Amino acid sequence: MKNKILVTGGAGYIGSHTCIALHEAGYDIVVYDNLSNSSREAVRRVSTLIGQSIEFIEGDIRDAELLKQVFTEHQIFGVMHFAGLKAVGESVAKPLLYYNNNVSGTITLLEVMAAANVKNLVFSSSATVYGDPDVLPIDESAKRSCTNPYGQSKLMVEHMLQDLAATDEGWNLIALRYFNPVGAHPSGQIGEDPNDIPNNLMPYISQVAVGKLKKLSIFGNDYATVDGTGVRDFIHVTDLAQGHVAALNYLEQQKGLTKDCSDKESANKNSTIGFLPINLGTGKGTSVLELVTAFSEVSGQDIPYQFSARRAGDIASCYASADKAKDLLNWEAKLSITEMCQDTWRWQSKNPRGYHSA
Ligand code: NAD
Ligand code: UFG
Repeated sequence: MKNKILVTGGAGYIGSHTCIALHEAGYDIVVYDNLSNSSREAVRRVSTLIGQSIEFIEGDIRDAELLKQVFTEHQIFGVMHFAGLKAVGESVAKPLLYYNNNVSGTITLLEVMAAANVKNLVFSSSATVYGDPDVLPIDESAKRSCTNPYGQSKLMVEHMLQDLAATDEGWNLIALRYFNPVGAHPSGQIGEDPNDIPNNLMPYISQVAVGKLKKLSIFGNDYATVDGTGVRDFIHVTDLAQGHVAALNYLEQQKGLTKDCSDKESANKNSTIGFLPINLGTGKGTSVLELVTAFSEVSGQDIPYQFSARRAGDIASCYASADKAKDLLNWEAKLSITEMCQDTWRWQSKNPRGYHSA
């Protein structure tokens, strides 16, 4: 029997791509999502892409009873925990919502996992936990600090996971710190589908390219960077998805398990992982202007832009040291900025209204 993975937030942008990667790597998956920032259409399309119907449960990670039921009905090996709210600005306006959803929700999930004796978790953390870095590239030992409730919620969960690992060595807790995920599945069937006007750069650019938005505002051209605009480590979402599979493989290897072992007793012994933070980035920085130019070339569309004031809370540059992921997980990002733009454009031009285009 293959190992079964519970994917919380599996209907969302990164979760949906990771479901495909997990399926291709031979895992069984159960998706658990409250659809607060996603749609059934995404789940339907993933089912079509993998050629079989995905087990989907509409539920909230704060609903302990429903979660318990899931762990009773399914023999879960581990959890990939994507479920969370992620809009920085909204988190400043509604901090309690973010702490409740992201922190309390994770506590509930961990409690239910502990009761079910399932102690393998891959958590969606973020480069946001590094705040404004002192040194570039950023490695996992860099100091952590956050300036907004969203970032704090990620940092709080990391601290919780660290404390949990320190008190019970049965836990295997990998925190993947994503840099800037962009791109879409090469089929153009699934991708990022922001609810309102996008906050993030890549969906904003692609919506300008497709004619939904008129003009991009570039927040600041006076940073100490190659061209004055912000520099980020953009990573293709399918590379990111493969990073999750690599993390799971690592977890299994460390525990002397194979993918086919579903015996919970042996699954919880020989544990050596504890809390393990790992960056998922390319290690390369690309400026906002460089990304705009690349997207324009790939799509053949003009991307009108104007320079405007810096956005509060933004930093000049942020890119990963990707060495730990390479050394431990034997994983590295493969896809280029051009491929990130091509796949984003395919998704956006085929689905100008995202999943509502269906
Ligand atoms: P997303 O919003 O597309 O996906 C998150 C999913 O979680 C959504 O489908 C949403 O409906 C679901 N969800 C939210 N709260 C829930 C709850 N209480 N119970 C059940 N389901 C719930 O976001 P994404 O970009 O796919 O991000 C996935 C994870 O990665 C998030 O935790 C996010 O904070 C983290 N992350 C994202 C980025 C990024 O730039 N996209 C960067 C770093 C980290
Ligand atoms: N930018 C613009 N115009 C826009 C949007 C963004 O110029 O309309 C600029 C920003 O100023 C920044 C760069 O593009 O210089 C990237 O901005 P994003 O909003 O796309 O991404 P951030 O690096 O600010 O943050 C993202 C996620 C966070 C996550 C972080 C690290 O939004 O949640 O990456 O993973 F924590």
